[in-house]
Amino acid sequence: MIELLRIEKYYQMGEITVKALDGVSFDIDEGETVVLLGPSGSGKTTLLNLVGALDRPTGGKIKIDGTDITRYNRQQQFTFRRNTIGFIFQTFNLFPTLSALENVQYVADLARKKNSKQKSIEALKAVGLEDRIHHFPHQLSGGEQQRVAIARALVKEAQLILADEPTGELDYKTGKQILKLLLKQQNNNTIVILVTHNREIARITNRVIELHSGMITEDGPPKKGKVSIEELRW
Ligand SMILES: Nc1ncnc2c1ncn2[C@@H]1O[C@H](COP(=O)(O)OP(=O)(O)O)[C@@H](O)[C@H]1O
Ligand SMILES: [Mg+2]
Repeated sequence: MIELLRIEKYYQMGEITVKALDGVSFDIDEGETVVLLGPSGSGKTTLLNLVGALDRPTGGKIKIDGTDITRYNRQQQFTFRRNTIGFIFQTFNLFPTLSALENVQYVADLARKKNSKQKSIEALKAVGLEDRIHHFPHQLSGGEQQRVAIARALVKEAQLILADEPTGELDYKTGKQILKLLLKQQNNNTIVILVTHNREIARITNRVIELHSGMITEDGPPKKGKVSIEELRW
């Protein structure tokens, strides 16, 4: 499970201190899917980067299964990310000189997955890209690149998936497919943190954590009720 204790992240910009996160605390249980909802600039990406050990907070603790990851050194951060985290970046971060398949397989190999090639092909199939596996990122549309990034996060079968606006570039139909795929990860006891600024998309989970100016303003079921993926409209 994940425990965040009074997390602060401040950026010093000359004279000005930007409080990107200002005392954020919450717990997430195994197998829970949580939506992190907030407008642009509210601190969502900053928070994911901290949970994913890409960065350290200014103050507070982040415990994963009881271990405070904010105290990890670089090597420990790397091992933690490699073994535990499936990250879907808002800007995809694909390797431009690797094909779709190679992008996915690279991550599978790094996480020491057996049959990494077969698993990577299956992950690309799951996101509907079976006929694009040898394309390079520049030969793919934004939505297709996004799906490669999603396949790359899924192939690891990670304990924790951090998805930063994963449907941002996707058309409606593909977006729903991807959300369905992310919800399915509950079956493997995976924790999914799904970041969105879209209040309708937030309704697919039992729990929505709302962030405004780096502070939590709500933590509970979606206000307008939960909807199935089939009913979802945005
Ligand atoms: N590396 C950085 N240096 C300075 N300010 C930053 C940095 N990253 C984010 N911020 C600021 O922190 C706030 C939260 O940003 P971010 O976490 O990216 O928000 P969101 O993902 O919700 O749009 C914003 O005001 C942003 O300008
Ligand atoms: Mg963001």
